[in-house]
Amino acid sequence: MQDKLKQLQLPEIEITNSYEDSSDLFSYLQIIKEQERAKIAKEIQNDIGKILTEIKKELLSWDKDIGNKTNAYIEKIELIEALVDQVIGSAKRISMDLRPDVLDSGVVAAIKWQAKKFCEQANLKYRFSCDNDEILMHPDLSIAIFRMFQEILTNISSHANATRIQIRLSEKEGWVNLEITDNGMGMSDQDTKKPKSYGIRGMRERCQQLEGYLLITTKSGKWTKISISIPIKSLEKASINSS
Ligand SMILES: Nc1ncnc2c1ncn2[C@@H]1O[C@H](COP(=O)(O)OP(=O)(O)OP(=O)(O)O)[C@@H](O)[C@H]1O
Ligand SMILES: [Mg+2]
Repeated sequence: MQDKLKQLQLPEIEITNSYEDSSDLFSYLQIIKEQERAKIAKEIQNDIGKILTEIKKELLSWDKDIGNKTNAYIEKIELIEALVDQVIGSAKRISMDLRPDVLDSGVVAAIKWQAKKFCEQANLKYRFSCDNDEILMHPDLSIAIFRMFQEILTNISSHANATRIQIRLSEKEGWVNLEITDNGMGMSDQDTKKPKSYGIRGMRERCQQLEGYLLITTKSGKWTKISISIPIKSLEKASINSS
């Protein structure tokens, strides 16, 4: 009888384990992805960015030493300089897209920076509010919140047809809360279940991993509000356990 009972319990244990395994794998992959991004961003800045700046310096000093410049020469050198500047700009942009330096200044500065950059590019009006200059948390948690914020902004620009967004970041009773409201077309329950849409699913999974939650409230044709709440100390426990 005992054996029979054990057998009956086994599938449940296996299902639980497999859920925990895939959930752990998901968070492990997120960490690896962020480490790779940071590594490539640094390499672009150090290896490519620095050499390009060096090339420009050499070019300018070489140009200064040349006497009797023809118009054709001046045109060519100006073109080369402009091209080098363009590549320096691209290297910086690619590196910043991979991992913005502002992330080192904490979540408040990073969210504020991203909101301004994104809304200026997308021609959206925005309001950002946060009572704190900084909300102290594990760096991996601030990166996770930042990445979810980016996904929410991408969704707004791709799907919402909004003209205005409001961003609220706060800390209350040990929880960090991020709330983004857009004045767009709203969304339905079906939207979040589209078979090939992974953004919202990924954010839900990420919030669960961090022992928090994601909530969507919306009014058709009026607005959508995405609220993320995560305990500030969730990753601190994980790093104590793994050390
Ligand atoms: N702010 C929003 N306003 C209106 N609709 C939205 C908004 N955000 C998401 N949606 C709807 O929810 C759907 C699911 O979003 P989700 O981010 O999960 O996937 P996706 O953006 O379609 O694809 P991806 O996997 O590239 O993120 C979208 O296709 C869109 O219809
Ligand atoms: Mg999306």
